[in-house]
Amino acid sequence: MEYINGIEVIKAFGKAKSSYERFVTAAKEGASCYVEWMRKCDIPFSLAMVLTPCTALTVLPFGGLFAMNGSLVPADFIMIILLSVGLIQPLITCMSYSDDIGKMKTVFGEITGILMAEELSRPGQDEQKPADYSVSLKNVHFGYGDKEVLHGIDMEMLSGTVTALVGPSGSGKSTIAKLIASLWDVQEGSICIGGVDIRRLSLEEYNRRVAYVSQDNYLFNDTIMENIRMGRAGATDEEVIAVAKKSGCHDFIMQLEDGYDTIAGGSGGHLSGGERQRIAIARAMLKDAPVVILDEASAYMDPENEAVIQASVAKLVQGKTLIVIAHRLSTIADADRIYVINDGRVDSSGTHRELLQKNGLYKNMWEAHISVKDTVNTENCGKNKKDPEKGGAANA
Ligand SMILES: Nc1ncnc2c1ncn2[C@@H]1O[C@H](COP(=O)(O)OP(=O)(O)OP(=O)(O)O)[C@@H](O)[C@H]1O
Ligand SMILES: [Mg+2]
Repeated sequence: MEYINGIEVIKAFGKAKSSYERFVTAAKEGASCYVEWMRKCDIPFSLAMVLTPCTALTVLPFGGLFAMNGSLVPADFIMIILLSVGLIQPLITCMSYSDDIGKMKTVFGEITGILMAEELSRPGQDEQKPADYSVSLKNVHFGYGDKEVLHGIDMEMLSGTVTALVGPSGSGKSTIAKLIASLWDVQEGSICIGGVDIRRLSLEEYNRRVAYVSQDNYLFNDTIMENIRMGRAGATDEEVIAVAKKSGCHDFIMQLEDGYDTIAGGSGGHLSGGERQRIAIARAMLKDAPVVILDEASAYMDPENEAVIQASVAKLVQGKTLIVIAHRLSTIADADRIYVINDGRVDSSGTHRELLQKNGLYKNMWEAHISVKDTVNTENCGKNKKDPEKGGAANA
């Protein structure tokens, strides 16, 4: 599976020979494991196959003995002989299932492991109504397994504002987004929406309030129409098309062979990264939830589509709580509040201008961002063209 799934990387890095060798080694190991298994079962299985049909070896002498001393009626003795012969075939069939039973035990063990995993404990109905759609995190700790990733995060995201999370790769931004989207529970601290701890809200109601576009978008192996409609079951085709137009999907969808009825392919494999992202945004827009989380939602987009989507998102989120994660700092410089996350902690927060004045991590990141843009401009244009973004948030 790894060989087939990773075939693009293998080809791109010229590893076809060494990777194929790994595949051959794995196949040979599989074969020798099978032979070893057969060898272990060889003697007990052969003995069973030889001895089981020999029921007569025990039935005849013992039955004869009991018949002679009168404890067994001759008619019963004959019946037992007949039955013992008839039992052989079902017994052999049962034995042939023994390896299937072994396989089933392994599969059941794995499935049971998943079924027994701890569930999010949420009430069936909201225990308290949130006052608004502001989101706040208080001293949030969270880790995957034993490794703690977030070490006490405090944040405040007000209704009707745009909050951006920025920071180095691996600092924990997506983890914060997933916790707000309620994919996991915090291990310490709390996340509140409108002043109510999300653990006191019903999961179904909560999911209706939050639209989350993740970093790696998943499209189901269904038509594009249905993939977008997943945002709100019951939306009409016209509503789906309207939202697709707003998120810059409509044109490319119409160019596909079957338009909106085109099957997106396993995890959206037949579409480009940017196209998948736009469909995921359309799905979130259709949901029309009061809290919207966009994790690197425009990372794969070309500048034209990014502008279309930013304009639509700006309209969409009026009066909503928008949480955006972005590496391209120019896309979030206008945010009402920016949180800089570093190594699972909030390094600093404020507006773009305030953070630049603090001379901290944000300023370094911004300067790195600008200098990369300068380098690209210089290389592209052959002259050092001044970047308008250097003017600051308003220009950005
Ligand atoms: N499912 C997971 N299991 C174990 N560790 C994980 C998992 N997801 C993330 N991590 C780890 O948690 C840390 C934070 O990851 P996270 O995805 O939140 O970073 P990020 O800030 O979003 O990074 P990026 O900017 O690259 O998207 C990383 O060290 C990562 O290796
Ligand atoms: Mg991330």
